[in-house]
Amino acid sequence: MKTELLQRQALTMKTKGKKGPQPSTLIVFATFSTDKKGNKSQNNVSLPELKDNVSIRLNKYIDEKIFAGKNQEYFLLRDVNCDGYANLLLIGLGDEKLLSAEKIRLAVGGLSQFLKTQKIGRALLDVESIKSVDTSLAIKALTEGILLGAYEFNELKSDKKNADSNKVTLLVENESEEILQGYKEGLVVAECTNFAKRLGDLPGNFLTPSILAKEAQKASAGTGIKFEAWNLARIKKEKMGGLLCVNQGSKEEPRFIIMEYRGAGAKEKPFVLVGKGLTFDTGGISIKPSAHMDEMKYDMCGGAYVIGALLAIAKLKLKINAIALVPATDNMPSDTATKPGDVYTARNGKTFEVLNTDAEGRLILADALSYASELKPRAIIDAATLTGAMALALGNIHTGYFTRSDFFSQEIEKAGTRAGEAVWRMPLCDHHLDDIKGIVADISNISHHKGAGASTAAAFLEHFVEPGIPWAHFDIAGTAWAAGNRLSYVPKKGASGIMVRTFVELAKAASLKGNFAQE
Ligand code: BES
Ligand code: ZN
Ligand code: ZN
Repeated sequence: MKTELLQRQALTMKTKGKKGPQPSTLIVFATFSTDKKGNKSQNNVSLPELKDNVSIRLNKYIDEKIFAGKNQEYFLLRDVNCDGYANLLLIGLGDEKLLSAEKIRLAVGGLSQFLKTQKIGRALLDVESIKSVDTSLAIKALTEGILLGAYEFNELKSDKKNADSNKVTLLVENESEEILQGYKEGLVVAECTNFAKRLGDLPGNFLTPSILAKEAQKASAGTGIKFEAWNLARIKKEKMGGLLCVNQGSKEEPRFIIMEYRGAGAKEKPFVLVGKGLTFDTGGISIKPSAHMDEMKYDMCGGAYVIGALLAIAKLKLKINAIALVPATDNMPSDTATKPGDVYTARNGKTFEVLNTDAEGRLILADALSYASELKPRAIIDAATLTGAMALALGNIHTGYFTRSDFFSQEIEKAGTRAGEAVWRMPLCDHHLDDIKGIVADISNISHHKGAGASTAAAFLEHFVEPGIPWAHFDIAGTAWAAGNRLSYVPKKGASGIMVRTFVELAKAASLKGNFAQE
């Protein structure tokens, strides 16, 4: 699916010029406000000069509540010759007073699949009726909703179709700065999120640590990002004991991916994004049950999503220095694999005992967070499909995050709201640190107590962040995958891309405020 912007006054010229296939379908939005009793009191279907027969039919359907304008409701009238278009599609936005950028994203999230099933290749979308949301945000949300909703992972099917030539043209009043800005941001964010989703969807044999690094390197070309990926020898030299411990049982070499974007002066402290790049998690010697183990190919989504966010930050040319760090390996059982009880030393010198080899994400993040701290950053965030406990606690709507900083927490809440992604602060306190005290080493990689598994995992990570650096850990185990039963623009099964938008918003906030550390 492609999108383009078209100014209203250019429309007639374009239609007359008849360059290329013309849109067959006109899409308009319908918003409905309700009175106190919840009855529809007024509808706002912004229609062009309709032929009488079209508007009579339409009003009848609206009066009979066949089409009620609810958010994500689609209503197609075929062969009506509406303003010269063969078909007319109405999309409900819901109550105008409750309209938000996220509601717009949701309303168009199913559009490209709908057009596909209706065999409609080209459509013109009239955005005029969206008035209650800031224009730039509305255009951004529309573009994101359409392009995110169009994403499909079918490259491994033998009968995959040729490149998708479908296109939706967004008809706008003018090409003002705010419209162009919203459109550009929407394009970049959707493109980078879809890139990250593809990495998440690729199975373990198609996405080894070295392939992940190559894909990230390819995507960095032309963005101004400085790319580096350390190999096994370098990782050993850098004393990354956590990453080496997890990689111990694998034939695949690990990688430590470093992507650096400079959008501000050399003295500006960087904003560092760390992501878990576990390309397949069998559990290792503490092996996982077979059922659904296939889904552990998405254990690298934290890595994919920070790579996607950094690409977006660079493509949007945000005035900030930002660095993405992704420790990448798979977690395999073999005669060389780490055994329960083994002790290793992480990069910052702390020793840990591996009481369960399936709690591996925290071990590879340990080195990445230590390295991040050495970069003297203004803030660190990390994203990881870290614990089943997180998925159990919050399901697939809210992404749980942990931070000791109330100020940083407020910034995260605001960024989540701006992005239209739901975040929820989870507890992290000294009791959780007590729960992971080591027996023969400094720390243990699992808790000595039942419960609070997501918090004790966060406490483990905290050992590797230098005190004083604002840090937040996002456990995306519940939201990284299969959140499409909630969100129309997210695949039903497969990588969701959730949190890429929030991370980009956080980077934007950091570029404006300069520092997250003020309390
Ligand atoms: N990758 C898993 C966490 C996970 C589980 C992500 C389900 C997505 C869905 C992680 O490496 C893991 O196995 N964690 C263990 C930790 C436990 C052994 C303390 C878990 O959550 O069961
Ligand atoms: Zn695991
Ligand atoms: Zn894992």
